[in-house]
Amino acid sequence: MIDKNVFRNFSYGVYLTTSYDENNKPVGCVTNSVMQITSEPSTVAVSINHENYTNQCIKKNKKFTVAILPETIQPSIIGTFGYQSSRNVDKFEGIRYHYTNGLPIIEDACGVLICEVIDTMETNTHTVFLGRVTIAEGYKKEVPMTYRYYHEKLKGSSPKTAPSYIEEEKEEIKSAKTKYKCRICGYVHEVDGELPDDYMCPICGQPKSAFDKIEETKEATFS
Ligand SMILES: Cc1cc2nc3c(=O)[nH]c(=O)nc-3n(C[C@H](O)[C@H](O)[C@H](O)COP(=O)(O)O)c2cc1C
Repeated sequence: MIDKNVFRNFSYGVYLTTSYDENNKPVGCVTNSVMQITSEPSTVAVSINHENYTNQCIKKNKKFTVAILPETIQPSIIGTFGYQSSRNVDKFEGIRYHYTNGLPIIEDACGVLICEVIDTMETNTHTVFLGRVTIAEGYKKEVPMTYRYYHEKLKGSSPKTAPSYIEEEKEEIKSAKTKYKCRICGYVHEVDGELPDDYMCPICGQPKSAFDKIEETKEATFS
């Protein structure tokens, strides 16, 4: 028996893994499955779903970066990089970034690792890229965002392509407020009454029409 709740107790960070495509367009996606493997030489691993455009780009050019996101990052950056694909959009439009060794680096990170792929391992859904760190830059003394912070404070969720994805259980409703849930990113917003017409999801930028009312009740608990 596999109790998926056990995986909820893993501690992760929240990162942007970036690269570029065959037209030199900057690409990237949100990742939480990043870990340091060795110190000398500095080596990290990242697990990226086969369906993600970022995966095929890294496979082609064998280079990637890992940007460590701070708690203060604009949540919409997580929405753009975590819920859209660089196949269809330019995720870097409107955000501050520069290039190091041809790789796109966002300015608002706590620090960035620039890596060369030295090995890969395939699973049925994800590729694990092993990267030798060639440059580590941009250190800022900010609090790095944890996966728990993302879920509990920003009330974000993870798409099916994230390795840590767990099918959601029914919401626990304990307050008299109304909860609305974004169908795109899973963000839950609580209000007294109706969502305002001009409401936009703070994580993925979707309009009010992307929200479903979860439940409106007084001191009831559903599970
Ligand atoms: C909090 C969070 C964590 C995520 N972690 C991962 C991850 O570790 N690996 C992965 O492949 N996708 C992960 N994802 C999903 C990708 O970011 C998402 O599928 C993205 O839209 C892929 O974009 P692309 O097609 O441009 O590569 C995560 C998303 C979120 C919001």
